Amino acid sequence: MSPDTTMEKIYLTPTPVRIWHWLNALGIVTLCVTGLQIRFPEYANIFGTYKAAIKLHDVAGVTVSISFLIWFFYYLFVARNLVKLYVPNLDDIRQGLFKQAFFYFFAYFLGRQNPHTATQESKFNAIQKLSYLFIMFLFLPLVIVSGLLLMNIEPLRGWIVMIGGIAFLADAHYLIACSFFAFLCVHIYMATLGHTPFSHFRQMWTGWEEVESGGRSK
Ligand code: HEM
Repeated sequence: MSPDTTMEKIYLTPTPVRIWHWLNALGIVTLCVTGLQIRFPEYANIFGTYKAAIKLHDVAGVTVSISFLIWFFYYLFVARNLVKLYVPNLDDIRQGLFKQAFFYFFAYFLGRQNPHTATQESKFNAIQKLSYLFIMFLFLPLVIVSGLLLMNIEPLRGWIVMIGGIAFLADAHYLIACSFFAFLCVHIYMATLGHTPFSHFRQMWTGWEEVESGGRSK
């Protein structure tokens, strides 16, 4: 960035999305820690009893499920820009993914500018779109449905048998949860790659992002 570049603030993330995001983040972190004790009770005794870990896991799971529905209905019926923001277009696939990967793996370390221009209509770059699409439309629904089935084994036994039985379901739930943990590590690292290490975090808290005049995200 040249020294005479001027900065402006744009409002990127509305309040309901920010509330969803931090409630969801707290829920997912709680699920990961309690899940660790439930899966490996002999190694991890974080919440006292096994029963306490399960109770907290269930409460966090229900919170994440309800907040997912709020996120979905808000974007679909109130903001009405779910597809535009989250689904990569042809340009993203043909050029955006490569350009953005080149930036994250190489150009960023040379101090070059982010090729993506953050605006209210297009706040995610191609890599963000693709990863958020997978996490919000595939992994989150899968972990929610498998978790709800495991919470209600007796009434839903027929369905559980149909999809492969309890052991298969528990393993699938655990593997999806591991993918979540991997996503979380990459997500938090990528969130530090704004114009300062905390600018995206501040944006996710206040809604306002600082960009170069004309809209280019630093
Ligand atoms: C401690 C945990 C987390 C932290 C610190 C964190 C941090 C952030 C930050 C700084 C942003 C804004 C920058 C960006 O757009 O990349 C963001 C956006 C986002 N995060 Fe997270 N995140 C966390 C957990 C999660 C989890 C568990 C999920 C999904 C299951 C998630 C999904 C998203 C999505 C979809 C957005 C874009 C939201 C929108 O503007 O529509 N995050 N996160």
